Amino acid sequence: MKSTHMNGSYPNESETGQTLVIGSSGFIGRFITEACLDSGRPTYILVRSSSNSPSKASTIKFLQDKGAIVIYGSITDQEFMEKVLREYKIEVVISAVGGESILDQFSLIEAIKNVNTVKRFVPSEFGHDIDRAEPVEPGLTMYEQKSKIRRQIEECGIPYSYICCNSIAAWPYHDNTHPADVLPPLDRFQIYGDGTVKAYFVAGSDIGKFTVMSIDDDRTLNKTVHFQPPSNLLNMNEMASLWETKIGRVLPRVNITEQDLLQRAQDADPAECGCCDNS
Ligand SMILES: NC(=O)c1ccc[n+]([C@@H]2O[C@H](COP(=O)([O-])OP(=O)(O)OC[C@H]3O[C@@H](n4cnc5c(N)ncnc54)[C@H](OP(=O)(O)O)[C@@H]3O)[C@@H](O)[C@H]2O)c1
Repeated sequence: MKSTHMNGSYPNESETGQTLVIGSSGFIGRFITEACLDSGRPTYILVRSSSNSPSKASTIKFLQDKGAIVIYGSITDQEFMEKVLREYKIEVVISAVGGESILDQFSLIEAIKNVNTVKRFVPSEFGHDIDRAEPVEPGLTMYEQKSKIRRQIEECGIPYSYICCNSIAAWPYHDNTHPADVLPPLDRFQIYGDGTVKAYFVAGSDIGKFTVMSIDDDRTLNKTVHFQPPSNLLNMNEMASLWETKIGRVLPRVNITEQDLLQRAQDADPAECGCCDNS
């Protein structure tokens, strides 16, 4: 098994709290890994060797320079994952795999069950509460997959925390676009309905910090954790006004009816949907 540390050394055997983050090169995973490193935990990151985008490579390099220990492999290789969990004495596993890889976590769950030493598993959720939400496509498929993962974790008796961080702090979207690519508008706002429905919008860095705080908290064991800071509860009209203050000008607002929004969602291709947790 190959792993690399920034100075070629291995973590102290006596250290505790060894945490494995999966999906560190991704949008949410990077925030979590940074917070994990900032908390001082021995932090391992699983990186697929097939991953060869320059921006992902620079994220991995950044995390490695901050102290992350890279392990190359995929969660779909159950035997390998069992070895990793045993060899590095992993106590906490946080998965932030993307929307297309949710079901890959079945083999990871099997590995965690067989090794039986992981004290907390955080599966890839980081959105709304999938047991309470009623999404439509293109989000529905992913919600159903995340729900299957929850049921499997519970059936295997693995200690877990489900993180419902609600919406990432960004302009709301309804289509296939990944939130990392959604910029607030510069020409006109498209406001859903009358723009008065409120939601929680949480900054990525806070999602990282509160996720890491949750894994050390006994109250979150086998619980769903909701991130709902009162000051982050905003509606679209308020978000638009905030953005207008930042850019120093007022933009026209176009209201989109519920029917039109549902039609647009129906026309979107679920296969290309990267997240949809913000819809
Ligand atoms: N609340 C919100 O507004 C919001 C926003 C975004 C995401 N989310 C949720 O957050 C979670 C993460 O999504 P994301 O958009 O951050 O994902 P992402 O940017 O697509 O990144 C996915 C990461 O998972 C890794 N990965 C995928 N399959 C893997 C495997 N089999 N083995 C090891 N690593 C694997 C990828 O590695 P490679 O580099 O090898 O591809 C990548 O690092 C999802 O559950 C998503 O629904 C929520």
